[in-house]
Amino acid sequence: MRIAVAAYETTAWLAPLPPLTAAEVLAFLAQRGNASFIARCDGNDVGTISSAREGRVVQLFRLGVVVPFRRRGIGERLVCEVEETARGEGAAVVYLQTYRELGLIEYYERLGYRVDGEQSDPSQGRGLVRIDMLKVL
Ligand SMILES: CC(C)(COP(=O)(O)OP(=O)(O)OC[C@H]1O[C@@H](n2cnc3c(N)ncnc32)[C@H](O)[C@@H]1OP(=O)(O)O)[C@@H](O)C(=O)NCCC(=O)NCCS
Repeated sequence: MRIAVAAYETTAWLAPLPPLTAAEVLAFLAQRGNASFIARCDGNDVGTISSAREGRVVQLFRLGVVVPFRRRGIGERLVCEVEETARGEGAAVVYLQTYRELGLIEYYERLGYRVDGEQSDPSQGRGLVRIDMLKVL
């Protein structure tokens, strides 16, 4: 959670990440099909991603890499880790949500995801567009 909050500081203008308590993290991880991964580089914890599986569909979320370690392929590696785990558990689809304003659609497209829908997000109140993307494994 500490890594995710640090990584999302650069996107706080859009949607600050609501931190979970340690108890909430433990409750999340205790549920079958849920997982979180941490990327370590040179002895530092530098990135994280979480996932939740329901049947054959996995959602990935809370992907973040801290600024000094960005653009080294760590984000991609984290996404791949979720996909490999999902495959191993018999999942057929990985799904994620992003905001058009984050400029990450092409990033996810390069990783094999395609846009599956979009809608304005009233909870943000600033005309932001939430994008659904998915990848068939
Ligand atoms: C998105 C994020 C996880 C990418 O992590 P990363 O480790 O830097 O990504 P990778 O090294 O795998 O990929 C780098 C490539 O992705 C693209 N990319 C990465 N971040 C980008 C951004 N913010 N905007 C546009 N392109 C981006 C670039 O093409 C980059 O390649 P380049 O360096 O050759 O230009 C990281 O920027 C981050 O933590 N952002 C804040 C949190 C966030 O927005 N999470 C995703 C919510 S849906």
